[in-house]
Parts: sequence; C-alpha cells; structure tokens
Amino acid sequence: MNEKIIDIKHKMKKVLDKDRYQHTLGVAYTASCMAMRYGLDPDRLFLAGLLHDCAKNIPNGEKYALCKKYRIELNETEKKAPSLVHAKLGAYLAEHTYGIKDPEIIRAVRNHTTGRPGMSIIEKIIFTADYIELHRDQAPNLPEIRHMAFTDLDDAVLKILSDTLVFLNSKDRPVDPMTKETYDYYMTHRS
Ligand SMILES: [Fe+2]
Ligand SMILES: [Fe+2]
Repeated sequence: MNEKIIDIKHKMKKVLDKDRYQHTLGVAYTASCMAMRYGLDPDRLFLAGLLHDCAKNIPNGEKYALCKKYRIELNETEKKAPSLVHAKLGAYLAEHTYGIKDPEIIRAVRNHTTGRPGMSIIEKIIFTADYIELHRDQAPNLPEIRHMAFTDLDDAVLKILSDTLVFLNSKDRPVDPMTKETYDYYMTHRS
C-alpha cells in the first residue's frame, strides 16, 4: 500500500467517528476487491473508498458554511437535507484538503450517495461498495446485491437505486431528484 493511502487512512481515523471509520474501511476494502474483479487498480479504489465519507462527520451548520465559502452549489433537496451535503463537500475536500488529483476518485466521492446517469465503473463501484460493505445489515436484499456486485455491476446499481427509492418513499424521507434520474437512466441504459 503506498504512502498516500497510509497518510489518508490516518487522517480519516482522526476526522471520522469510530463507526464511520469502520464503515469507511469496509467500503475501501470492498471497493478494492471489486477492483480486482473488474480488472482495475485496487489501490485507486481503496483510496476512493477511504475518502468517500470524508465530510460526513462535519457538523451540519459547518457543512453549509463550508459549501458557501467554497461556492459549492447545492440543489433544493440538499439545501433541506444535510445528510446529502457530505458528498459534494467531500469531493471538494478530497481535492483541496487531501490533495487528490485523480478526477475519477473525486467524481466517485461526489456521486456516491445518489449516483448519476452514465457513471464510470469507478463511480459504480464506490456507489455499490458503500451499500454492501460488511458493516451494513439493515438494507433488504443484501445477499442478492452483494452477489450481483461481483457478477453484474449494473444490476447491482439498479437494485440499490430501486430499493433506496422504495425505502425513502416509505419513510417519507426527502428524495434527491438525482437518485430518481439515475434510476431512470439505468432502467433503460445497461452496459
Ligand atoms: Fe456517504
Ligand atoms: Fe458511506
């Protein structure tokens, strides 16, 4: 493992709470295993996994203040749902605070919560690893989705999106329009 990864790992241990750090390691290891499966660089996916929630434990008020300071544009849903803001803010911090130059890693951090139409394979892996890593135990259909993650990544992405939409709607929780847009896209565009 290269020095950059070790350095970021130490930094995440400091800025994340215990559970979030364990989840983060879970995403990093899951994403690197998926990289091995799909013929990608496991270190690159490990690093993306380490960083994906780097802004998660920043207090909500501070999250909004930082978005304003760094001129990060938020949509109407993000303005009302602080839990969604960490993705865009995290992408900014990955680049400017943690010195990541790989645009694919930055994009994967930015889109890990909602996905986006036309995701790269790196974005799809982080989106999926976030949902299936071994500390996750609440979502329905986890065994099926974990299997799909290593057999048909687009199927896994689509199932995660549909299950997420069902869950959010059943709890009357705000749905970022991008989640629906991504779902619609993957319903019709399969690779
Ligand atoms: Fe997240
Ligand atoms: Fe996460």
